[in-house]
Amino acid sequence: MYAETVLKEWMEAQVPRAPQMKDGPAFFRNLEQSLDVHRATHSLLLAKPRWDDSIVDLTTSDALSLNRDGIVRDALLKELQAHGDFILSASGSRVQYGNYEYLIQTEKEIAEFHGAETAYIAHSGFMANASAVAAIGTPGDVFVYDELVHTSSHDGMKLSQVAEQIKFKHNDVESLRDVLTNLRDTNPKLKAGTKNIIILVESIYSMDGDVCPLKECVAVAKEIFPLGNAQFVIDEAHSTGLIGPQGRGLVNMLGLEKEIAVRIHMCSKALASTGGVILCNKHIRNALIQNARFFVYSGSPSFAMVASMRVGYQQLMSGATMERQEQVQKVVKHFYKTMQEHPVYEEAVEEGIISIPPMEDWESRKWHTHIVPIRTRNHYEKYLFYHVLLIAKMNAYAWSFPIVPKGQSRLRIVFHNHNTFKQVEDLVNAICDWAQEMLDIESGTSDNTLPEATRQVYALQGVTS
Ligand SMILES: Cc1ncc(COP(=O)(O)O)c(C=O)c1O
Repeated sequence: MYAETVLKEWMEAQVPRAPQMKDGPAFFRNLEQSLDVHRATHSLLLAKPRWDDSIVDLTTSDALSLNRDGIVRDALLKELQAHGDFILSASGSRVQYGNYEYLIQTEKEIAEFHGAETAYIAHSGFMANASAVAAIGTPGDVFVYDELVHTSSHDGMKLSQVAEQIKFKHNDVESLRDVLTNLRDTNPKLKAGTKNIIILVESIYSMDGDVCPLKECVAVAKEIFPLGNAQFVIDEAHSTGLIGPQGRGLVNMLGLEKEIAVRIHMCSKALASTGGVILCNKHIRNALIQNARFFVYSGSPSFAMVASMRVGYQQLMSGATMERQEQVQKVVKHFYKTMQEHPVYEEAVEEGIISIPPMEDWESRKWHTHIVPIRTRNHYEKYLFYHVLLIAKMNAYAWSFPIVPKGQSRLRIVFHNHNTFKQVEDLVNAICDWAQEMLDIESGTSDNTLPEATRQVYALQGVTS
């Protein structure tokens, strides 16, 4: 019933509201009118109800299953008991009373684990990213960012004192080279090393699941700016726990600890709790304490929150998650192999019904990320979402513009340690059954103009095809 309930709620939420509020207060009518713009394209976001195990999880960030298995929760309860007299609230910001010993100790442990000089704990990954990006730029510096960096990096740039922001093409080292070369040749202060370039990237991009060519990017930055005034901020949200030795992330995996000025790890995803960690040297930490308004003017994270981050990290430190990390790799490989062997796959790709970019060279890659996009035509992403949810009882969300670039609508699959091979096979069958339906509709060999699951959803709303 979950699928029907959530889809009905979702369809109802897309019905325009402002026209029914003619006699109500203008303030709220105006607000709903602004939301009706999203409803018009069926893209109003919905705070969805949680699903139970009758629906297969292809969505959550719990890739290592540490949340669903209660591992971090159990460790947290023990940790809280072991510190029975803890003081719950920080009762102040870092620059007041909020810089307590347990927090300092946790930061030291995490910094050591990652081979970083210092670590700084923030309330969320979003806040860690936005704050770090905002705090380290000074007037006259320039941001250079991958066009697909997370919105938290964009918000950080907006909050900073840096006026100039230049994007480079996603994961394109030559595009980065062009941007940096042009800056060096047109801005004497950058060339002389009296102003800085801050380069923003992610280790694994959240919508495409592809990996930053970090080594190559670092080499280009060093070549063009040999004085050391071009430095990187990397968001490791989706690599934490999943990539590198004991899940330390991409920078550790590549041995680039000394080359990257700021690394941001999230505990809200595979580590099954919440919060962000900024890994940096003492100079950057000083700038955070001085400039990061979220930290100066906001109470420090509570003991309970820091404890949950610490015990999450201890799972990595102890090696307890390594088998789970390996299992995720097996699950993703099984998906690629099963999809490749499915009789419908090739035709579906040739006809443009689906494309799965990471499948292009999957057999030659040493490791895989757990995020896999199934790209499809504009609007088809919703049809595929309905099919996977209603018919296969699996939950993976559909994304379209503006969350992903125009023309790159997709179903975003997140694979987990807890996804079985059978579930992976069911998923492949569901995608390919739907692709076959679309092939039949497009070639005119079907009596329908819409696929079955979409007709069911429209019927829920009283719309007929
Ligand atoms: C790439 C990326 N960075 C940052 C964040 C924010 O992290 P948090 O959920 O810990 O605030 C997210 C979460 O969606 C993310 O995907």
